[in-house]
Amino acid sequence: MHHCRICNHPTETFLDLGPMPLANAFLLPEDFLREHFYSLRAAFCPSCGMVQIADNPDPEDMFHGDYAYFSGQSRYMVQHFQGFAHSVRDTLGLGPKDLVVEIGSNDGTMLTNFASAGFRHLGIEPSGNVADVARAKGVETLVTFFNRETALAVREQQGPAAAIIGANVVAHIPDMHSVAAGIKALLAPDGSFVFEAPDLASMIVNGAYDQIYDEHIYFLSASTVAHVFGLYGLTLVDVQEQWVHGGSLRFWLRHSEGARISDAVARQLAKETRLGLGETKTYDAFRRRCEKSRDQLRQVVGDARAAGKRVVGYGATAKGTIVLNYCGLTPEMIEFVSDTTPAKQYKFTPGTHIPVLPHGAFAADYPDYAVLFAWNHREEILAKESQYAAKGGKWIFYVPDVHVL
Ligand code: SAH
Ligand code: TMP
Ligand code: ZN
Repeated sequence: MHHCRICNHPTETFLDLGPMPLANAFLLPEDFLREHFYSLRAAFCPSCGMVQIADNPDPEDMFHGDYAYFSGQSRYMVQHFQGFAHSVRDTLGLGPKDLVVEIGSNDGTMLTNFASAGFRHLGIEPSGNVADVARAKGVETLVTFFNRETALAVREQQGPAAAIIGANVVAHIPDMHSVAAGIKALLAPDGSFVFEAPDLASMIVNGAYDQIYDEHIYFLSASTVAHVFGLYGLTLVDVQEQWVHGGSLRFWLRHSEGARISDAVARQLAKETRLGLGETKTYDAFRRRCEKSRDQLRQVVGDARAAGKRVVGYGATAKGTIVLNYCGLTPEMIEFVSDTTPAKQYKFTPGTHIPVLPHGAFAADYPDYAVLFAWNHREEILAKESQYAAKGGKWIFYVPDVHVL
């Protein structure tokens, strides 16, 4: 029986995705036999409403010196983080003397916007290889996990932070109580904590079960964020919808004392209630939709192969790992997966062992079908691959449902 990481109440498992490898653990053939699998199940806490995965691998097995995800790989994400940084700077009226701390600063894509303008800044990033890339850009980075202890140490050495920011990291940290206590301790009295995460409402609306993987411990909503951080004297004062990662929310929090709450918070909470995010039946319906999507994707790819067509994957994403394994797609069905990240190329997809090849393999000899595993970058990719479609190449999408274009 799994207990909620937030409130310790027994949770309800609503989707069992089966044995899974680590979603970003692209590997070489010599490691196939040693590959590590864990059981991936999504659960809902009927008491506090938090949606979470039931078992999580050890963070040290995921975030280390050989971490595969580099934020700077997508041109749009680079622009997005510039916009994020400018929004934080302008909304909070920050100047170079203010300390800006980023949690999960990865390759420095976001913080470089502060570093290059001469701001006091610090990235906290446990994956050493991506941190090296950040340092090479002049982004000060502490290679460690953010938690309450780290927050206290940073405060001791550098004083309080005017802003603590983060993207796609808060829901990655199993001990959210420690994160909230750390934010409370590190934030200056008039400071703000601003973070972004793919949100539960978008996942449910899009049928995006591929957001469920080892690194994503929680699926957050305005309701659950307000609840957990509220326990530590932090108030959700604003929330903004973002289109990145298939639908995200940017949460703005402050110390509770004297905090003024924007109307957007009540609107988001009402939307979440309307979508039934606090009700078990919502998650039962989600499971049925996932099972249908799985069967349809197998069918579409299977039919294409039966007709002698070539099918590849586009984007060796963590999300793609989940889809490939959950749907039982094999190297016989998917010839290779194209990806622009050097650290993934010439490795194989976790669990399913499909080769990952550079984009050139796709461009040099267009396949008949490409499954878009980087669907959150759909516009960027469809725009740059207009030649593929013009030459008769077809895209297979599985979000919001399986369809061919
Ligand atoms: N913020 C970047 C990277 C997201 S990937 C972006 O949005 O593109 C998640 C990052 O969080 C990884 O770089 C991982 O190493 C880091 N991370 C994981 N646990 C962490 C923790 N406890 N504290 C700080 N960073 C953490
Ligand atoms: P993400 O969905 O987690 O952001 O990961 C996107 C992955 O897709 C990353 O490995 C880089 C890859 N990618 C491409 O191969 N081509 C592209 O045009 C884009 C935008 C991403
Ligand atoms: Zn709970």
